[in-house]
Amino acid sequence: MRGTSAPIGSVDRVLRDGSTVRIRPATPEDRVRVERYLIELSPESRRLRFHSPVVDVGEIAAQAVDVDPSTHVTLLALTGGDEGTVVGGAQYFRIDDVRAEIGVSVSDRVQRRGLGSLLIGQLAQSARDNGITTFLAEVLPENHPMIAVFRASGFSPRIRALPGSIEVTIPTTLAVRRLPTLADAGSPASRATARGRKAMLRLSLSAALVSLLPWAAYAAGPPILCPS
Ligand SMILES: CC(C)(COP(=O)(O)OP(=O)(O)OC[C@H]1O[C@@H](n2cnc3c(N)ncnc32)[C@H](O)[C@@H]1OP(=O)(O)O)[C@@H](O)C(=O)NCCC(=O)NCCS
Repeated sequence: MRGTSAPIGSVDRVLRDGSTVRIRPATPEDRVRVERYLIELSPESRRLRFHSPVVDVGEIAAQAVDVDPSTHVTLLALTGGDEGTVVGGAQYFRIDDVRAEIGVSVSDRVQRRGLGSLLIGQLAQSARDNGITTFLAEVLPENHPMIAVFRASGFSPRIRALPGSIEVTIPTTLAVRRLPTLADAGSPASRATARGRKAMLRLSLSAALVSLLPWAAYAAGPPILCPS
């Protein structure tokens, strides 16, 4: 059943290299562009994201855009505006009243420009607005970039070892406290000076709360080897 929820807005953000992205909620019309994005991810990024190099990208894309703001939110980062190219995504699935599982990925050619951190901060705000206080993430132990993002956030996420993975627990309020720097739609980054943009980005990086989705749940159905 679809529930009530706080509306999720669209924001434009500047990445570390000066390029801009639009971050907006996914809709069912995004299925093909999400599928294209997943196909273009490198095999290694797909493996880290989905815990397997073999995934059904059609099924994953369909689930990603089948959103219900009260229980399942997907944010997309696009270049070229609302109808442009997907270069990253983050999503949460509500587990119960206050907890949700989250996942994030960024196009290989756009990684290390702050987008993963921005997506997580934005997602945390949406979650918090919908009463979610805690994000859970399941990360492969060898996913050093993801773990580095957590470390770079400056927070101390609770980490628990699971068989074959790491579970990370993060309070969304930590991100929300810093979100005015991330989600102030009234201050378009396009008006910021280059120095201001860099400072804003650094602040937003401090709000980074990253994790991953239990991709195994996403990979339901007959597996299809992704083209690489
Ligand atoms: C993990 C991931 C989402 C990070 O996205 P990103 O946009 O590259 O991350 P950011 O640019 O916000 O990085 C923030 C900080 O995290 C750390 N970090 C990120 N990637 C890193 C890497 N490869 N090596 C070392 N540190 C890294 C750095 O401290 C970085 O800040 P810095 O660049 O100023 O040093 C991205 O690497 C990715 O999509 N990986 C494949 C999918 C995946 O693993 N998803 C997560 C599990 S589902």
